[in-house]
Amino acid sequence: MSVYKKLRSVLFKLDPENAHYLAEIFLKSVSTSSVLQEILANQFCYENEILHNQICGLDFYNPIGLAAGFDKNATMVRGLCALGFGFLEVGTLTKHAQNGNPKPRLFRYLQEESLQNAMGFNNQGALKAAARLAQIYPYTLPIGINLGKNKSIPTQDALKNYEEVLCDFLSLGDYYVFNLSSPNTPNLRDLQNVSFVKELFMMAREHTNKPIFLKISPDMPKDTMLSVCEQAILCQASGIIATNTSVDYTLLWGTRDFGGISGAVLKSKSAEVFESLAKAFFGQTILIAAGGIDDAQEAYKRIKMGASLVQVYTGLIFKGPALCKQINQEIAQYLQRDGFLNLRDAIGVDLK
Ligand SMILES: Cc1cc2nc3c(=O)[nH]c(=O)nc-3n(C[C@H](O)[C@H](O)[C@H](O)COP(=O)(O)O)c2cc1C
Repeated sequence: MSVYKKLRSVLFKLDPENAHYLAEIFLKSVSTSSVLQEILANQFCYENEILHNQICGLDFYNPIGLAAGFDKNATMVRGLCALGFGFLEVGTLTKHAQNGNPKPRLFRYLQEESLQNAMGFNNQGALKAAARLAQIYPYTLPIGINLGKNKSIPTQDALKNYEEVLCDFLSLGDYYVFNLSSPNTPNLRDLQNVSFVKELFMMAREHTNKPIFLKISPDMPKDTMLSVCEQAILCQASGIIATNTSVDYTLLWGTRDFGGISGAVLKSKSAEVFESLAKAFFGQTILIAAGGIDDAQEAYKRIKMGASLVQVYTGLIFKGPALCKQINQEIAQYLQRDGFLNLRDAIGVDLK
């Protein structure tokens, strides 16, 4: 049994949110100790030139990132850097601190290697996170800041709320993500429409030329998804992250009917959405794949389908901190096997 499997059998006896809290305490303390960072980095980081890429002017030493939601308050950045990720996305952060939805709001499905969460953007607010990030800026890896709307802000004021939260991080993000796709803030997903997306990116481009991505839900009808993404690209989005969690409760037997589903059961749905997106927009914009990616095979598949980068979250919970290294090592082997000199050459080959 691997070390993580033993640790997991203890962690999984805890309520999922408490287990996350313990992991946060550990990674926070790693973040303050360069000795611990070095020990973890020796164990978990994998360096191979074949994986290097430059995207939107940022240097990625590998294509595997941590998806938003794990480090909501940017408390663990340095500790997470030592786990071998090529980039990290912190948040979702909102302008004002908020508690999120009542607990319990995070559930594990062990057999299915999946999670269901209804967190509701629990976070300490933009200013606290910005102060933390300012202490470690510039970063050793590209750090994205995922931005959301406060629950208390009515839809008609959403644009201003996004503008305020973006402005709190203008000097601190390597890239930004507009999250309109969480199922856990009432009516947020309604903002995934052409007119709001146009206003949002036009507003953002008045403030920054840095990369900005739109993160989409896997639950939109295909035509709507394509027109919303097209609008974002027209208004100078740097790319699209597909996907967030799903509210398709048929994915998971015995599930609760609230919150979003992630992990292995989301894999094929997310991959399907990603494929439609890539067929429409590969070459015109940068595509980042998320949703059920928990091994090198799936990561490589999405890269060949057009993903410049991929993100993991639920896979990390079930498979542990060696996941990133394992995926990167295997992708490097696949690239060599398939005759690619660099990861860059494999991106989108299955679309050609
Ligand atoms: C507990 C939990 C919290 C999440 N919180 C956020 C969030 O705050 N913002 C966001 O954009 N996505 C959030 N996500 C979605 C993930 O970033 C990711 O898009 C989704 O889980 C699919 O990837 P996965 O199957 O690898 O987990 C969250 C996911 C989980 C499981």
